Amino acid sequence: MRRLRDLGYTEVKCGCEKGDCGACAVLLNGEAINSCLVLAWQADGADILTSSGTGTAEQPHPLQAAFADTGAIQCGYCTPGLIISAKRCWIAPPTRPSTRSRGVEGNLCRCTGYGHIVNAIQVAAEKLAAGGAR
Ligand code: FES
Ligand code: FES
Repeated sequence: MRRLRDLGYTEVKCGCEKGDCGACAVLLNGEAINSCLVLAWQADGADILTSSGTGTAEQPHPLQAAFADTGAIQCGYCTPGLIISAKRCWIAPPTRPSTRSRGVEGNLCRCTGYGHIVNAIQVAAEKLAAGGAR
């Protein structure tokens, strides 16, 4: 079986490979999915966004910047999946409770602790609310 990361998208992490950890999350036609559960033919013709597609080193997405700026990253293995999961909240600016329930839903982090991660998402949400969501 070939994974997205085998095709060069190394930001898509390989974790449990059972749909439990969220390390492999991507947006598939705008929906956050665990890519380890999707076969290639199921994604044929779909728009796929990985965390690297959300911003660049020169112009990081507010989520990427907030994770780095607020200490929400330790080993970083969970971060790409968390950014994708948080991004799905952007239909409306997330509140702190909705960030806790939906923004990090299905994503396991073994090192940072979710307090910093929720803070990072809220910082990004405030920036996005001030400047328009993307
Ligand atoms: S590797 Fe896909 S959910 Fe864990
Ligand atoms: S920062 Fe290490 S698993 Fe989340």
